Amino acid sequence: MNEFDDLLVNPTGKKSLTELASPQRRNILISSAIAALFSQNTIAATEKTHSKLFSFDSVPYSRANDDIQLPTGYSWSVVAAWGDSINGSTKKISPDVSDSAGEQELQFGMHHDGCAYFPITVNNSGSIKGIWATNHEYADDGLLHSDGMATWTADKVRKSQAAHGVTIAVIEKSASGDWSVVADKKSRRVTANTPCRISGPAAGSAYMKTTADPKGREILGTLNNCSNGVTPWGTYLTCEENFNGYFVKSDKPNLTEARVGVNAKGFGYRWHEFDERFNLDKHPNEINRFGWIVEIDPQNPEAKPIKRTALGRFKHEGAMVTVAQNKKVVVYMGDDQKSEYVYKFVSKRVFNSSTPEANLNLLDEGTLFVARYDADGLGRWIALEHNRNGLTPANGFPDQAYIVINARLAADFVGATPMDRPEWIAVHPQTKDVYVTLTNNTNRGTKVNLNAANPRVSNSMGHIVRWTEASGDNSGTVFKWEIYTLAGDPHSTKPHLRGNVIGDTFGSPDGLWFDKRGILWTQTDISTSALGKGDYAQIPNNAMYASDPQTREFRRFLIGPKGCEITGVDMTPDMKTMFINIQHPGESPAGRSDPKNPKAISSWPDKDQFTRPRSATIAIWRSDGKKVGE
Ligand code: FEO
Ligand code: CA
Ligand code: CA
Ligand code: CA
Repeated sequence: MNEFDDLLVNPTGKKSLTELASPQRRNILISSAIAALFSQNTIAATEKTHSKLFSFDSVPYSRANDDIQLPTGYSWSVVAAWGDSINGSTKKISPDVSDSAGEQELQFGMHHDGCAYFPITVNNSGSIKGIWATNHEYADDGLLHSDGMATWTADKVRKSQAAHGVTIAVIEKSASGDWSVVADKKSRRVTANTPCRISGPAAGSAYMKTTADPKGREILGTLNNCSNGVTPWGTYLTCEENFNGYFVKSDKPNLTEARVGVNAKGFGYRWHEFDERFNLDKHPNEINRFGWIVEIDPQNPEAKPIKRTALGRFKHEGAMVTVAQNKKVVVYMGDDQKSEYVYKFVSKRVFNSSTPEANLNLLDEGTLFVARYDADGLGRWIALEHNRNGLTPANGFPDQAYIVINARLAADFVGATPMDRPEWIAVHPQTKDVYVTLTNNTNRGTKVNLNAANPRVSNSMGHIVRWTEASGDNSGTVFKWEIYTLAGDPHSTKPHLRGNVIGDTFGSPDGLWFDKRGILWTQTDISTSALGKGDYAQIPNNAMYASDPQTREFRRFLIGPKGCEITGVDMTPDMKTMFINIQHPGESPAGRSDPKNPKAISSWPDKDQFTRPRSATIAIWRSDGKKVGE
């Protein structure tokens, strides 16, 4: 029995549970029963509707072009790619990839992901020059070194670590509309070796202490920097996602290690061979120091990044910050793994709009909550706080430091709802409704039960859930939720692939962001090994869509080069330039590229000038100078 079994009996009055011996058959029936429950608030896929929020013509389906495709009247250019100098010199990563770790520490890293534009006022405009902050999620050692991983050295490890983290650089618009990096004293790289301060409940706790840091208050580096956030006091949040993959442990993982996926080989980065802090046999607490939200001051290159432990440790996708009606700061966060949870942090103190310095440590004190999406369409935020909700020493939760470090274990204990891989979260600028992308979960209905918010067996297409917090209060504990869109082709004959997308069909939504007009920009991340095959035969290369929250129409705005993911987005305040990141063009289905044949799939963006495809930030603008999207 699960909590949805009664749905099988009630809607038709005919089926009894004894008839439903096959768990798979039962799951399918539960799935349709749940879909029926929500049909009242789900617009029919066939409904024709045309948004007034945006006016561009949809970009036609394509998987053949190894380039950026945009609607008529739009232009784009590369702002900064992997290997470009953070100070705007002409130096780019050399074609023979002979660069050293030291050079990589002064260049844009690999695999651009979340990002943000911080305006610098010039001639009364904040839209012609700004600080550009971008994450570098991971390294592909097949592209990073001339012989890939055929030989393995301390310098290669150092270079791989330098290809991770964040770049802060200054960018400027030219008269023709394109943007480039310029020299500035604010430019800096934050890598997997940059000293970071630890703050919040886990700082100084026994779980954070290591031989190199006996006080448990300073960590070297940030890694697997996926999505991001921006605070109203002007700082950048970078989010550590798949941190477990950098660590190895030869012994059987303990409870807390197992819950984040520690194993003997990690993801094959092999850092531990020359940097023993990634060997858990020798330094068991080092892994507790990763998996956090890290706050960076983009204005001050001397300011240490700060790991804000009050926001919990898990595989952080992003950190969407909003200020609630009562002025408390709320941070929405997804934990991107199959059947993990959605969280939010609510600050104890309120945001002070007149004194920016008063806000600097707001993220250190507050309550971490995890979401439960109930079958009646209501949801609850459950506090992960010591001695509340059963999180007591007797139940295995000795203190708040343990709870934030092991947020997943605490969330399991309080009965949070397992979701289909929570990726980005966006908050509507006017209604304050909250939207989350659930990119896919092929275990749904087999290894993990269906539930009302995740109703599709073997959900390979993903969906978007949205909710309204009770009384419009983003700091509250009750909400009303619904499925915004089930991704996938509405005409598919296979129930598990059939979506209800109005407009252009897409799969695996990931990046999600509202501009200030209320256009919901959705970016996709279908794996290279799946694209064009089976479930994804009718879906183009990874792309970006505009959606209107009222009509739920999705319209394709951009298609990326082959093998890429589209991720990260921001705009200048005048909305005439949009910036997005193109991650891993030419991604090998094997994971790491073959250094002998790096252009097997894509040579974007340099075509024949350089030997390797490169992740890059691009700028997009309209040739007629009007706002992007309109
Ligand atoms: Fe780094 Fe879940 O994407
Ligand atoms: Ca993502
Ligand atoms: Ca993804
Ligand atoms: Ca990615």
